[in-house]
Amino acid sequence: MVREWDPRTASSAEIASLLGTLNAVFAADLPQDPPWRESSLREYLSEVMPGERRISWVAQAEPSAGGQPGAILGHVHVLMLGDIGVLEVLVHPSVRRGGLGRDLVRLAARRVYQEGFQSIGVEVVGETPAVAFYEALGFSREYVETRSVLDLSAVDWAALGEMATGVGAGYHVEFCPGSPPDHLIEAYARAKAEVRDLGDGELRPSSYDPERLRDSLDTLHRRGMKPYIVLAIHDRTGEVAGLTELVVPAQHPTRADQYDTIVVQDHRGYGIDRAIKARMLLELRSAEPELTEVQTWNAQANEAMLKVNAELGYRPDREWCEYSVDVAELVHRLDAGR
Ligand SMILES: CC(C)(COP(=O)(O)OP(=O)(O)OC[C@H]1O[C@@H](n2cnc3c(N)ncnc32)[C@H](O)[C@@H]1OP(=O)(O)O)[C@@H](O)C(=O)NCCC(=O)NCCS
Repeated sequence: MVREWDPRTASSAEIASLLGTLNAVFAADLPQDPPWRESSLREYLSEVMPGERRISWVAQAEPSAGGQPGAILGHVHVLMLGDIGVLEVLVHPSVRRGGLGRDLVRLAARRVYQEGFQSIGVEVVGETPAVAFYEALGFSREYVETRSVLDLSAVDWAALGEMATGVGAGYHVEFCPGSPPDHLIEAYARAKAEVRDLGDGELRPSSYDPERLRDSLDTLHRRGMKPYIVLAIHDRTGEVAGLTELVVPAQHPTRADQYDTIVVQDHRGYGIDRAIKARMLLELRSAEPELTEVQTWNAQANEAMLKVNAELGYRPDREWCEYSVDVAELVHRLDAGR
C-alpha cells in the first residue's frame, strides 16, 4: 500500500518503523556507517528552507491479522529546489527487486512533472544497488565526489595541535559553535560567494547572501543538525579569509559531517585550510565527546583539499555520485513500462 505521507503528522510508530527500514538499508548497503537514531528524525524529514517543499510517500505492509499497522517498507521524498526535484528513495532489503523502488520513483516523478519541474537529481552511493537501479531507470551520472572518513581514535592530537597554530602571520582563527557571530555574517557570506566551486555538489547548495545564510543555519538547527564553524580572520581588514563548517546531526551524533571549507583566493598559501580544519577537530574533542568519526565529500579534482584531508588522517571511503534525468522522459519511460 503506497500513500502520500506527511512526517509532521505521522504517528510515532510510523517514524519508528521508517527508522527501522533506514537502518536495515544501512546495514545492507553501508555497514560501516553508524545506525541512525530517532532523535529529531521527524524534524529532519519535515523541516525545509523557506521557499522549499518536500513531498513524501511511504509503502506500508498490510495490517497484521490482529489489526496492527504494517511496517513501513519503502519511502520516497522529493525536495522541490529551484527548478529541480531532489529525490531520495529507500526500500527495505527484504522486499527489494519486486518493483517497489520503481513504483515509488514513478509516483514522485509524476508529481515533479505535474508541478512543471524540468529535472530530477539524486545522490547515489557508489558500490550499492542504487547505482544499477538509477541507471536502469535512465538517470545519467553528472558528478562524482569521494567521501572520506576520519577515525578520531587514530588522530595524532599533538601533530594536529601544531597544524592548528600553523597559520601565517596576520591571521587569527576563531571557533564559532552554532553560527558565525552576527558582526561577521556579511563577511562570511562574501567569502562563500567568492568561492563557489570548492564547496559541495549542486544538490546541496551553499548560502551566499546573509539572509539566506541565516535561513540555512536556522533550518539546520530545526532539523536537529548542530552546526560548528571555524573562521580565519584577516587581521588588517577584518575580512573572513577562510571558513570551515561541520555539522553534528542528532540522528547520528557519533559521526559528524564536514561541510564546506573555503579559503578566499587572496588568502591562499598561508596554511589556512589545514589550520581551520585542525582547530575544528580539537574543539570538537571537548564540545562533542560522543563523536568518533567525521565524514566529508570532495571533488576528485580538488587535489589541494584532498592532500590536506590526508594529512589530517581522512581515508577515502567510496564514491558519492550525482545522477540526474529529464522528468518528462522519466515519466514517459516509467509509464511505458520500460
Ligand atoms: C535502489 C533501491 C531503491 C531499489 O529498490 P528496489 O525495490 O529493489 O528496485 P526495483 O525492484 O524497482 O528495481 C528496478 C530495476 O532497477 C534495477 N536494479 C535494482 N536493484 C538492482 C541490483 N541490486 N542489481 C542490478 N540491478 C538492480 C533492475 O533493472 C530492476 O529491474 P528488474 O528487477 O526488473 O531487473 C533499493 O535498493 C534501496 O533502497 N537502496 C538504498 C538507497 C539509498 O538511498 N541508500 C542511501 C542510504 S544507504
